[in-house]
Amino acid sequence: MTTLRLGVNIDHVATVRNARGGAHPDPVALAKAALRAGADGITAHLREDRRHMRDADMERLRAEIAAPLNMEMAATAEMVAIARALCPHAVCLVPERRQEVTTEGGLDVAGQRAALAPVVASLVAAGIRVSLFIDPDPAQLRAAAAIGAPVVELHTGAYAEGRAGELARLCEAAALTAELGLECHAGHGLTYDNVTPVAALPQVRELNIGHFLIGQAIFDGIAAVVTEMRARMDRARAASG
Ligand code: PXP
Repeated sequence: MTTLRLGVNIDHVATVRNARGGAHPDPVALAKAALRAGADGITAHLREDRRHMRDADMERLRAEIAAPLNMEMAATAEMVAIARALCPHAVCLVPERRQEVTTEGGLDVAGQRAALAPVVASLVAAGIRVSLFIDPDPAQLRAAAAIGAPVVELHTGAYAEGRAGELARLCEAAALTAELGLECHAGHGLTYDNVTPVAALPQVRELNIGHFLIGQAIFDGIAAVVTEMRARMDRARAASG
């Protein structure tokens, strides 16, 4: 049985902080509390518009936490320069549109191979583990492998919305990652209620979860929420053998 890591996305702590323009609540303090409660890593998305995380937050995360930092970002020259200077453990490349509320779909790796290949190469050369956030689509998986990405993160948003056939798509995509030699992560829209089938997929090595955990922490506190999500992930894994 392979282990399944939990990456906690802390963007929405910064969203709440930014609503008042001060320093509270501090996303770095939340990251430390999540790690103490059993999270394996921290994920933070530095958007072009800096709507939640800021450059200084990323620098503090890099300096103050020892656990793996996964920086989500668009494949732009500005972000590549920031990532190469920051040198986080991992970068997850995501599509980004200014008007979107959250990352709405996966990257079109198949359609943008020429643009994405040098970005992946540049980050890999800096010693950063690169993942591509993609829909569970065989063409996207094959393109990710072809441009040399070591990791893909499967977009679970359509599954989380309850769309028919999406769990089967995730299952097939996860199986294909193994054939292609890609490490498989998954995330988006995962909650206590829908995490089990995704956590049970044996090829999936990491789940990145944000909105639900931060929202539920308002009621239960971050330590209880991370502990409960970890327990559900571990039970799913154990049950799937
Ligand atoms: N993975 C990626 C690549 C994302 O962009 C997001 C959302 O920022 C997540 C995981 C987490 O999604 P959610 O906040 O819905 O748990």
